[in-house]
Amino acid sequence: MSKEESIKVMFTESEVDARIGDLGAQISHDYEGRELHLICILKGGVFFACELAKRITVPVSIDFMCVSSYNNEKSSSGIVKIVKDLDEPLEDKEVLIVEDIIDSGRTLNYLIPVLEKRMPKSIEICTLLSKPDRRVVEVPVKYTAFTIPDEFVVGYGLDYAQKYRNLPYIGVMEE
Ligand code: IMP
Ligand code: MG
Repeated sequence: MSKEESIKVMFTESEVDARIGDLGAQISHDYEGRELHLICILKGGVFFACELAKRITVPVSIDFMCVSSYNNEKSSSGIVKIVKDLDEPLEDKEVLIVEDIIDSGRTLNYLIPVLEKRMPKSIEICTLLSKPDRRVVEVPVKYTAFTIPDEFVVGYGLDYAQKYRNLPYIGVMEE
């Protein structure tokens, strides 16, 4: 059986779209009268960030950062590396970090202080998925589309060994 055949749907494309719509409305309400600077964490966050940005009605700018902590394995190394830094300064910006998934919390625990040093006006976190059972360090997440149990998921930006990011739904890897 191929890997593709062993992915079980957890959230369908329309369920994900509906939740992103909810979050977009909530974020638009919370930031009314202000401008929002989205920081998309590559690569996993890019599908979510694009869909979310389309549903936000306040003025939005987007920048990208690529961090790596996972070397094609399913567990966190605990070592976070900035592979590609932001293009724009953060000074006085209302920053919203857009992540694919918060697992151990190590990536954001490392990243938040790094970004705070750049003096944004505010900084919040928005994630497509959260696995609270796996948390090693606590991170203050403002917006979560789905809270899930401790299972390895792929699709909608999430990969296993760089594959399956393009699945339009979120599925569980079954081995
Ligand atoms: P953390 O630093 O442990 O919170 O891990 C965050 C990163 O781990 C995410 O941005 C993903 O790249 C990766 N990750 C964690 N859990 C999963 C999963 O279930 N599927 C795919 N990638 C995952
Ligand atoms: Mg990954």
